[in-house]
Amino acid sequence: THTLRRAARILLIGPPGSGKGTQLHSLPPLFPALSPLSTGDVLRAEIRAHTPLGRFAASLINKGNILPDTTITAVILAEALKRGWVVPKEKDLVVDPEHVKAGMVRVSEGVEHSFLLDGFPRTAEQARMLHQAGLEVNLVLLLDIPREILVRRLSGRLVHPPSGRVYNTNWVGHPVKGAWLRKDPEREGGYLDVETGEPLVRRDDDDVETVKKRLEGHEKRERDIRDFYEDMGVLWRLKGVEGREVTREIEEVVCEKFC
Ligand code: AP5
Repeated sequence: THTLRRAARILLIGPPGSGKGTQLHSLPPLFPALSPLSTGDVLRAEIRAHTPLGRFAASLINKGNILPDTTITAVILAEALKRGWVVPKEKDLVVDPEHVKAGMVRVSEGVEHSFLLDGFPRTAEQARMLHQAGLEVNLVLLLDIPREILVRRLSGRLVHPPSGRVYNTNWVGHPVKGAWLRKDPEREGGYLDVETGEPLVRRDDDDVETVKKRLEGHEKRERDIRDFYEDMGVLWRLKGVEGREVTREIEEVVCEKFC
């Protein structure tokens, strides 16, 4: 494991299926100070709990659309508050983007507030809002994976919903952690999570049509966000495409910049 010397505020970007969620689970064991947060996982937990936000999110996600910028930013800021990344200047303030703009929250400094984000920001407007909140990202890792690989990966993806762990039926093991897919003795063609023995499922938004729509919407949004961070000088294009080399490359970059 590695010790960070300065606060790392890292963002994973890349198209659906590029491996953001996979890296989100692979990096914290290497960098224990990095606190992982995935908007996709947060929203899927809301969907499973049938909350009003979950119902709203499901209606958009299952059609391959994304949530409105203000809704998702409020969700992320609430998480940031819960984790102590931002602290309200007034007790009991419910933090929303307007409070942030009005300077009513203070951003926590220090290595212990290092984070790794997957799925947020996803638009230039979200990136601006995060920046305005003072949570300035200092490294953006771009997973630039060819489309045909993405489509193949998403067609074979299985997930363990409670933990967000991802697997793939196109190969026998977890590409990064090396864990093996376990067959479910009670379900023909079914598999189990390696750590809990619970069933793995396909995501509702991984059917062919929805994947097509997600990939199309992604392309334009990513150009904007890429430009935003390129202008700030924090964008890092990863060379690796498949297997554990991606994690190794990220480990090297993060070490070089923050350890
Ligand atoms: P989200 O869950 O973030 O979906 P996504 O961006 O489409 O990305 P995916 O989770 O599909 O892919 P991934 O890059 O994490 O790949 P993975 O690691 O699983 O968001 C879901 C939805 O929520 C959005 O569509 C949107 O509607 C909404 N939402 C979320 N954030 C939002 C925001 N900020 N604003 C508005 N709406 C928002 O890997 C894929 C497969 O490939 C796996 O099977 C894995 O095993 C395999 N794989 C991964 N890495 C490798 C490797 N190195 N080698 C070989 N195989 C690999």
